[in-house]
Amino acid sequence: MSETDPLVIFTPSGKRGRVPAGTPVLAAARSLGVDLDSVCGGRGICSRCQVSPGTGAFPRHGITVTQDALSPWNAVEERYREKRGLAAGRRLGCQARIEADVVIDVPPESQVHRQVVRKRAEARAITLDPATRLQLVEVAEPDMHEPSGDFERLAAALAAQWGVEGLVAGPAVLAALQGALRKGGWSVTCAVHSAGAAPELTAVWPGYFAGPVYGLAIDLGSTTIAAHLCDLHSGEVRASAGLMNPQIRFGEDLMSRVSYAMMNAGGAAEMTRAVRTALGTLTAEIAAEAEIDPALILEAVLVCNPVMHHLALGIDPAELGQAPFALAVSGALNLAASEIGLPLAPAAPLYVLPCIAGHVGADAAAVALSEAPDRSDELMLVVDVGTNAEILLGNRSRVLACSSPTGPAFEGAQISSGQRAAPGAIERVEIDPATKEPRFRVIGCDLWSDEPGFAEATAGTGITGICGSGIIEAIAEMRMAGLVDAGGLIGSAEQAGTARLLPEGRTHAYLLHDGSASGGPRITVTQSDVRAIQLAKSALYAGARLLMDQMGVERVERVVLAGAFGAHISPRHAMVLGMIPDCPLDKVTSAGNAAGTGARIALHNVAARREVEALVRRIVKVETAVEPRFQEHFVAANAIPHATDAFPSLAAAVTLPAPSFNAARGGAEGGRRRRRG
Ligand code: FES
Repeated sequence: MSETDPLVIFTPSGKRGRVPAGTPVLAAARSLGVDLDSVCGGRGICSRCQVSPGTGAFPRHGITVTQDALSPWNAVEERYREKRGLAAGRRLGCQARIEADVVIDVPPESQVHRQVVRKRAEARAITLDPATRLQLVEVAEPDMHEPSGDFERLAAALAAQWGVEGLVAGPAVLAALQGALRKGGWSVTCAVHSAGAAPELTAVWPGYFAGPVYGLAIDLGSTTIAAHLCDLHSGEVRASAGLMNPQIRFGEDLMSRVSYAMMNAGGAAEMTRAVRTALGTLTAEIAAEAEIDPALILEAVLVCNPVMHHLALGIDPAELGQAPFALAVSGALNLAASEIGLPLAPAAPLYVLPCIAGHVGADAAAVALSEAPDRSDELMLVVDVGTNAEILLGNRSRVLACSSPTGPAFEGAQISSGQRAAPGAIERVEIDPATKEPRFRVIGCDLWSDEPGFAEATAGTGITGICGSGIIEAIAEMRMAGLVDAGGLIGSAEQAGTARLLPEGRTHAYLLHDGSASGGPRITVTQSDVRAIQLAKSALYAGARLLMDQMGVERVERVVLAGAFGAHISPRHAMVLGMIPDCPLDKVTSAGNAAGTGARIALHNVAARREVEALVRRIVKVETAVEPRFQEHFVAANAIPHATDAFPSLAAAVTLPAPSFNAARGGAEGGRRRRRG
């Protein structure tokens, strides 16, 4: 390269350098390390290499670009424009040659490593850096005098034309190779997956194949299984689907499933079959919804808690049911998707994120990847609320993790009128502190129950019960309205001044909705409902508090509620109940299904897989089951919001009534006495 060679400046990267006149833009980009996509390897077929050259003066770069800085429009570009269209001002980077100083913009769709912006402002963008790339290659024909296998000649062509060294392939793809090569006239498009030790051929098509090709990000939870079908090139989610985990019939929560495996010969294998069948059904459903052939799903990423992890892999989870809660394997796994029965492309690889500990799984690792407490300046508490809460606490200096057995109450189970979140379930509740009258909203209807048209709008579904977020709001509202005291005791009609409090044996229940006149249910919040929520929230709070002890702090600066359920919890109500430690209310946010997002990040970005593997090795695990202080914290957290910990941010936002009905009466009596005196 000499000083007289043309200077090329790529934007937005700012990468610049001199290249010999006549160098194709694509070759210049490659030599300067500029991110410019290509599937066809410069044959003018794929159009992934589109660029926008600039003309005129660029004072910032100190050059003036003339009209003839690039070679004239050529026949390949003309043919492409006629057949498929090429936007004005665009050139094919593999065809246009650099003749003089030039500034070339690489638009986002031509960059392999562009960013997919996530909807939440505080969430980090996903940088696309997929493990799977499509590459068109011309393969030498077989020669009797120099015998070699079709695969060996393909591997040599990929090395020569794309720099892919050391290609490997399994029988599933080799079975398709010979047909594809001959049908394509010795030109094939290869899917090359580069994430493990050696690049692997995972699919092959005759001739040029433009895609799209897909990946599946799966979040296998104990209650629900959710999956996102993603376009591996654009990063877009093409379809999302979920279904109930059929293992529920073996036990609602994790430990009951471990017990089922321990008590029943063949129980673990039975649960493995059930979950694999469900994963297959989900894959078929999501492919049908997106109207794609499942054979175009070229890879998958799986996140799940440790018990689901073992059962999906066909490993007996018995060891996870007893101290020291040893995992059969904790590191990340690279498998063939077919090994767990996923009906994707025959050679599709599966990446399973690492588990953090015996009770803190790959789902928590995915949450850590998505919410990145290790990149936070603020001390951040992340709780993934489900039947087992997984909790992370940390900042740039260190990250701690634990899990806490909250049980299924937060999901509406073990609640007298409880149900899973589905149309007809009460999900929001407000209680007027003066009249003690409730109003509510149900899933599937945007109106509040006291708004005109509510009865008609809910006539189809009816009002069937109360879901997890509904019961949390109901009890928090009852506390704010003075219907429940700090100990969790529901008052009598006389104590609280409302006929909605009904006697039930020696306790009381709050009547939220009476649909009996029209044949519907009476929905009440009973004393045992309050107790069930107290137990669940105490477990959650105690886990968080234990991590705070370990970190040596009394306060956290930010709280992120993760999990599909977390998306529906109101921060104010969660804090009134004392589910989470005190923190400014505007610093409590919801991350939605962060485990699913973490799976999506790992699907789209190979470097993120290394990142989460390194992060998991650094995370300090705290085992709640053997920590004596857990019990202490659990007992203190039984009160609403808490027996001893101060909630100053909450106090600034919400005034709670007296801690007990006796105190309220005593206070009133005392007041009267003082006035009399
Ligand atoms: Fe495929 Fe240019 S690299 S058209």
